Amino acid sequence: MGSYRFGAKGFVTDSLLEPLLNSLPDIIHSVDKKGNIIFTNKKASHLLGYTHEELLSMSVFDLYAPEIRTQVKKGFAQLQEKGKMTFRESLLVAKSGEIIPVEIRSFGVYNEKGEFIRTFSMLRDIREMKEMRDNLMHAERLGGIGQLASCVVHDIHNPLMVIQLYTEMLLQDSSRYMVPESSDEVEEYLHQMQKASEKIQKLLNHLRNFSRKQSEVKETAKVNDLIGDALFMVMNKIINQGIRVERENEDKDYSTYGARIQLEQVLMNIISNACDAMKASDEKSLKISISKEKLNQNNYIKCAITDSGCGIPQGSIDKVFSSFYTTKKMGEGTGIGLSICNDIIESHEGKIQVESEFGVGTTFIVLFPEVKKTGKSKK
Ligand SMILES: Nc1ncnc2c1ncn2[C@@H]1O[C@H](COP(=O)(O)OP(=O)(O)O)[C@@H](O)[C@H]1O
Ligand SMILES: [Mg+2]
Repeated sequence: MGSYRFGAKGFVTDSLLEPLLNSLPDIIHSVDKKGNIIFTNKKASHLLGYTHEELLSMSVFDLYAPEIRTQVKKGFAQLQEKGKMTFRESLLVAKSGEIIPVEIRSFGVYNEKGEFIRTFSMLRDIREMKEMRDNLMHAERLGGIGQLASCVVHDIHNPLMVIQLYTEMLLQDSSRYMVPESSDEVEEYLHQMQKASEKIQKLLNHLRNFSRKQSEVKETAKVNDLIGDALFMVMNKIINQGIRVERENEDKDYSTYGARIQLEQVLMNIISNACDAMKASDEKSLKISISKEKLNQNNYIKCAITDSGCGIPQGSIDKVFSSFYTTKKMGEGTGIGLSICNDIIESHEGKIQVESEFGVGTTFIVLFPEVKKTGKSKK
């Protein structure tokens, strides 16, 4: 049963119960008819920055942000009616002035005559949950942009076909349309137009593959081709930022087996992060190399992507693969890129690692299981 003692203001606590209440991750408190706090656990002091004694001399209404106190008082009055229980989100204000969003479950405690004696409430800090919810909403918005992209692909595809067709016709029958003095020049322009529209076509094909969920189909793929296509997808960032790209062993036809689009997505995410990391760097260099690697009897193609960017602080290196970990501003990062990369590479029985020196740069290493020519991965 445990022994009972009277806490401050006559609140009865159980000596066995108290350590349990103190170890809970939520604030537990009880207030009397007037709203005076008569019991709190340690989490209240921990979260709000008041000492236990300070809290026991305060009114519960002082714990709420001033602009919502009227609403809190209304809720408190409702709670005094027998059998009422309330559940709501609210905002606490810590001693430091920091506003803390919480989820509150409260109910009334009544005597034998049914008269209200006190409340009993559990308050959960929901800052992290709120942040995750915001991030998820942002990720959903990005998903929406993906869908929009697939519609846009169709709308661009058709007029592009017309441009390609007429360029081709002009080139094939150039003598009919051009005066001899300028035909060389015009032909050159037409070739440039052809090249540019081929680039657009390639980009559209990528976007379409991305949005079509063809991503699960597995095939043998040359790692250098995957790198080339991933680079192509982030070419905009590379050009805009003036990043120098160096490739090592670009001529090797080392192959892996997997869902091409997914593997390209991994490389694209890593390269895109590398570009972001170099935004403020004087030297902007991206090195991508591939080589063969044997690990625990398994053969891999190792792809190392090194940037000369800001680097990752030692204490954060373990977090980069966690979902929603981002150091980027809202709208610039979601923190899910690398966690998706990790899932994809794991499902392909590969490995992904990171080495970084803060202020110097970062290397991401992806090990793709090697296949010889065609067929299944060689284990
Ligand atoms: N090449 C890199 N250099 C420095 N930091 C990096 C690099 N790649 C990833 N990071 C860190 O890892 C975090 C998580 O990356 P990611 O999962 O792709 O999410 P996001 O790019 O949306 O922030 C980044 O916000 C950044 O702090
Ligand atoms: Mg990213």
